[in-house]
Amino acid sequence: MGLENLPRWTLRFACLLVLQSYVLQGLYPGILLNDLMSSFPPYFSGSVQATGFGSSTTAFEVAKANEAEFAELKTVIITGANSGIGFETARVLAHFGAEVILACRSVDKAAKAVTIIKSESPKANLTPMTLDTSSLKSVHEFAVAFKKKWDSLDVLVLNAGVMAPPPSKSVDGIEIQFATNHLGHFLLTELLKQPLKNAGSARVITTSSFAHAFPPPEGLITDGTFGFGSGSGATQESWNCYGQSKLANILHAKELQRRAVKGSSKGVDSWTGIAAYSLNPGFVRTNLQAHWPIIATLEDTIARPLVKNVQQGAATTVFCALDPQAVPGAYHEDCSVKPVYHAHAANDTLALSLWEESLRLVSDYL
Ligand SMILES: NC(=O)c1ccc[n+]([C@@H]2O[C@H](COP(=O)([O-])OP(=O)(O)OC[C@H]3O[C@@H](n4cnc5c(N)ncnc54)[C@H](OP(=O)(O)O)[C@@H]3O)[C@@H](O)[C@H]2O)c1
Repeated sequence: MGLENLPRWTLRFACLLVLQSYVLQGLYPGILLNDLMSSFPPYFSGSVQATGFGSSTTAFEVAKANEAEFAELKTVIITGANSGIGFETARVLAHFGAEVILACRSVDKAAKAVTIIKSESPKANLTPMTLDTSSLKSVHEFAVAFKKKWDSLDVLVLNAGVMAPPPSKSVDGIEIQFATNHLGHFLLTELLKQPLKNAGSARVITTSSFAHAFPPPEGLITDGTFGFGSGSGATQESWNCYGQSKLANILHAKELQRRAVKGSSKGVDSWTGIAAYSLNPGFVRTNLQAHWPIIATLEDTIARPLVKNVQQGAATTVFCALDPQAVPGAYHEDCSVKPVYHAHAANDTLALSLWEESLRLVSDYL
């Protein structure tokens, strides 16, 4: 069949796709469009991947399939566990017997989450604790309180996050999304290094996003505040900073894993015994869209078939926390390893400079 015989809408759609690729490549040089596009068919179809799971798999199903792993999984910290993906992860891991610390900026919200989970799983072992990831002081206080009570930590889930809020700075003067989504988590991981090492084989899981494909052109804005006040206009700036923070999540896991493998070789501090994973949960309708009611409305209406429920949204987190098929250092989606969608996310040099800059920014609290 010749092109002239194709329905007009097919040609228009194809032209739109090509145009969109040019626009995306212009706006985000380094974006790996082929990898990004090829992730959509399995995501939308829900087809089962080689791991035995797909985008429709729920967190409960992953935990059930990995029930034997709970013998080794004693203690888990989940940041931002009072709602959305973090809550569902806490609910499922606690149901199967893990002791879960819900590290939340509002201890009242954490306590409410505990009540809900316990009403369903009365034997669940849950502790609500205060942690504001946007404040380095709060992170430090949380780590001190945790280490007073617990010697070892099997899984650290770095999940708390905000998406494109109005531009603002953290109490430490850092762009709010970089502070909340990355820097607080970076400090937390540093401060919990010993409990993680004491566990023997611990996992650190970082929740990234598709948005890592849309960082600022330089990847990480190195103006000392990671983007606050860069002057590109509030909305664009806010989304750039979300992309930057989600890129940072992947780079943090990557460099952490490099340090775990390199061990104590010259110039690299030893994270031996710890494995780091990053993941994208997919499009999930949660409170994350709070600053963007238009996105929430779209996800509740025309885009609904493309959106995961929260049970499906937490599946890859539980997969990374438990499943032997999860690959240390890799980026995961739909309970499988996936290629990253931007060259910056595969850049070892950028990962190292993020680590060094983050270390410098948190140095007063180490
Ligand atoms: N939903 C999606 O489509 C999607 C897609 C890709 C990636 N993600 C990522 O998934 C993670 C979880 O998001 P979600 O969708 O489950 O959204 P959510 O329901 O809004 O959950 C986010 C959690 O993070 C907490 N949080 C925000 N700022 C915090 C801070 N400064 N200190 C401590 N906790 C803080 C929130 O606490 P409060 O309740 O107090 O606000 C909440 O518990 C985020 O990292 C997000 O970037 C989500």
